[in-house]
Amino acid sequence: MQIIHFNDWELLDAYAAQTIINKIQEKPDAVLGLATGSTPLGIYAKIIEAYRSKEVSFAKTTTVNLDEYVGLSAEHEQSYAYYMKRHLFSHIDILGDHYHLPNGLADNLEAECDRYDQLLEQNPIDIQLLGLGHNGHIGFNEPDTKLSAGTHAVQLKAETLEANARFFESAAEVPKMALTMGVGSILKAHTIILVVRGADKAEIVKQALTGPITTDIPASLLQTHPRVIVLLDREAGRKLK
Ligand code: F6R
Repeated sequence: MQIIHFNDWELLDAYAAQTIINKIQEKPDAVLGLATGSTPLGIYAKIIEAYRSKEVSFAKTTTVNLDEYVGLSAEHEQSYAYYMKRHLFSHIDILGDHYHLPNGLADNLEAECDRYDQLLEQNPIDIQLLGLGHNGHIGFNEPDTKLSAGTHAVQLKAETLEANARFFESAAEVPKMALTMGVGSILKAHTIILVVRGADKAEIVKQALTGPITTDIPASLLQTHPRVIVLLDREAGRKLK
């Protein structure tokens, strides 16, 4: 596990974006695993800048997102499909049928999870971008006595609902369920970039990266992966030094 500390968000964003851009330049049909939330916003902005300055094209690239809320359509402003279009896809030349998210509106969620797993089998992830939840979740793999390998529906924990309420008008509107890629699928990615910002995540960063490997902290399983790059801002990394 390579851990890189940054004094400044700008440099962190540039480093993460450049790692992704380098991969696409070397392998234009690479598969990117993408995340939503606050953490990747600056990284997506840098990727858009690079696309606009013609450094990189995504015309052959495929992306698969980690997760989606159950019950929100792609037009709902808080759905992850909407987020991805707004913050990345509508600004770059990725083809409309080359980006994928679980469908949170599927009638049969189990069948939707199977479909997504098949898609992941057919599109092995070259680089997976991850954020970290305050409770140690990755994707929406919440702390539990056991974790699922494949895509599955999950009841979101109270702390996750609370953290995500900031994006909704009221806490009651936050969907209680989500579909998420499993930890097994995340760990199959060739390279993983875990990005964490902020003092409020310093303790979970320390536990996940240096504590025991446990399903109580899903991100601790990243310790078993051979190619994880962890990018931390000064506050998130302060308990590691
Ligand atoms: C988002 C996702 C989540 C977030 C995590 C951190 O697709 O899978 O695991 O990465 O909840 O969220 P932020 O970045 O908003 O702090």
